Amino acid sequence: MPSNDTEKVRGYFERASDLFNSIYTGEKSAFGRWLDKVLRPDLKERFLLTLHEVQKERPQSLIDIGVGPGQYLKAYAELGVPQITGLDFSEPMLDLARKLVGKPPDGVEIIYTVADFTEAEFKQKFDISVAMGVYDYVANPEAFLRKMKDISNTCMLASFPSISVWRTPIRKVRYAWKRCPVYFYNRGRIEILAEKVGFKNIEITKIRGSGMDYFVRFDC
Ligand SMILES: C[S@@+](CC[C@H](N)C(=O)[O-])C[C@H]1O[C@@H](n2cnc3c(N)ncnc32)[C@H](O)[C@@H]1O
Repeated sequence: MPSNDTEKVRGYFERASDLFNSIYTGEKSAFGRWLDKVLRPDLKERFLLTLHEVQKERPQSLIDIGVGPGQYLKAYAELGVPQITGLDFSEPMLDLARKLVGKPPDGVEIIYTVADFTEAEFKQKFDISVAMGVYDYVANPEAFLRKMKDISNTCMLASFPSISVWRTPIRKVRYAWKRCPVYFYNRGRIEILAEKVGFKNIEITKIRGSGMDYFVRFDC
């Protein structure tokens, strides 16, 4: 049974799929584009870091949890990952993803799954699992991380929004107004979570410039 908070997050990302996509497409006012450039360089940075790790690992299979409007799926397909699953509980996000990706290249299969990750059942494991911009909205990060580990063979890549003196209170107010819960982390909290779940190694990178996200690679 999904919690009330999960339903709020899903509801928000069903309403806000076009708005979120516009950060990537730039289809917004000049002021909005300027704000994104100043406040959201982390989005591009975590995208590039993810692709770097995926390219390094050359996975046969990958799942992206909370995949959003498809920029990641398109990039994995262009890298030639043979089996890609894009999972998101927002159907409008996956519609955008299908539109953006179109027909995958030969030898690449993309499976689109509309589901709440916390409720989903999996018949297979994946070489890599990815969750970028998702832990911001997860009420029980330990259970989420454990479930990611259960379905990952090699490694997991995830971002965690950091606690910042001035941005955290602003973001909390903005999201309260949008009726969407949001959560924050520091390095210590990420390390404790990782220790509880148990990994061979973790590598935490504070994303340059924005001071907002931690990019984390967990080795299973
Ligand atoms: C901020 S967006 C990030 C999208 C994409 N990963 C990116 O970075 O461009 C977060 C996405 O996670 C999805 N999401 C959040 N919690 C989820 C859950 N429990 N199960 C499936 N999708 C979830 C939302 O619907 C949304 O599309």
